[in-house]
Amino acid sequence: MEMLVCGKSGIEISPMGIGCWSYGGGDYWGPQAQSDVTAVAHAALDAGINFFDTAEGYNHGRSEEALGVALKGRRHEAVIGTKVSTPDPATIRERCEASLQRLQTDYVDIYMIHWPHDEFPIDESMAELTRLQEDGLIRAIGVSNFGVAQLTAALGTGTELAVNQLCYNLLSRAIEIELLPLCQEHNIGILGYMPLLQGLLTGKYKTADEMLPVHSRFRHFRDDRPMATHGEEGAEEEVFKTLEDIRKIAEHEQIPMSRLAIAWAMAKPGITCMLVGTRNVNELTENLRVIEWTPSADVIESLDKLTTPLLEKMGANPDYFTGGRIR
Ligand SMILES: NC(=O)c1ccc[n+]([C@@H]2O[C@H](COP(=O)([O-])OP(=O)(O)OC[C@H]3O[C@@H](n4cnc5c(N)ncnc54)[C@H](OP(=O)(O)O)[C@@H]3O)[C@@H](O)[C@H]2O)c1
Repeated sequence: MEMLVCGKSGIEISPMGIGCWSYGGGDYWGPQAQSDVTAVAHAALDAGINFFDTAEGYNHGRSEEALGVALKGRRHEAVIGTKVSTPDPATIRERCEASLQRLQTDYVDIYMIHWPHDEFPIDESMAELTRLQEDGLIRAIGVSNFGVAQLTAALGTGTELAVNQLCYNLLSRAIEIELLPLCQEHNIGILGYMPLLQGLLTGKYKTADEMLPVHSRFRHFRDDRPMATHGEEGAEEEVFKTLEDIRKIAEHEQIPMSRLAIAWAMAKPGITCMLVGTRNVNELTENLRVIEWTPSADVIESLDKLTTPLLEKMGANPDYFTGGRIR
């Protein structure tokens, strides 16, 4: 598998990474057996997938713990990305040390600020992250969910950023408008998250009513959905019409919709790695088939075209959760 370099860090990662949010189990994703986590990690490494994405905030640290257990004896083969929830310069070091302990390692490869927080001056957060890098606790510094203004401010500190981790899928293309070109201009790798929009792009739902409230809280859906906080009307009609059109292309290509969705995102210039939440070896085995199937230029063009009305309706805001945190 061809590896890609994350910005100027020199760190090479596979174009598909394992999203570890469900690992450790919890309220959002439900139970997750350690045996499945370990089996996925080993099978992924055997197949040439080396990047694993977790966060201190995932399941109160249990995702990091589960990944640490799974990578025991093979840590050196993996590239681990984890995230600090609160970029408070006073606590970043102790948070990083706690992540290292849970991950059973003495370094993190890519350490990211999970979401921008206006209350902490970015220069002070970056200075503390740079000290962690100098001390060898982390190899590279990254951010996640940083918009144009936030990324520009972070770059203004002079810190070398390896990556920006952002939502990217067929139904969530906002980064293409401004952020992706900005990241490319500054040689910042993009780690795309939620290529399946948490299951919607597998085609398993026909209406938003069938979805779990955690998955229908995105800006794609009406604000009166139980967990939505974005205050917008949503675009449910357009979402399900677009899904139907995507389904037809997948049927024509004789592949599952999930494979089409992941392959489309991986094929986009500027995307370093797509992070796929992978709960068991069956899902991994299917998702790995993306490597054997490259979408033709015609397929990419058709998918771009049929998803453009939704992109236009939802606009350039890349915060698909609350709509208000990415600027
Ligand atoms: N930086 C951030 O703020 C942020 C935000 C979100 C995610 N992320 C990262 O990105 C990763 C990926 O995002 P995500 O996990 O939220 O969403 P996702 O990758 O779009 O969807 C993952 C879910 O899709 C299902 N799935 C995966 N492969 C499948 C297949 N072949 N067939 C059918 N279903 C399949 C699984 O759910 P079931 O088995 O339960 O159906 C899986 O948990 C996360 O794990 C996390 O590391 C980062």
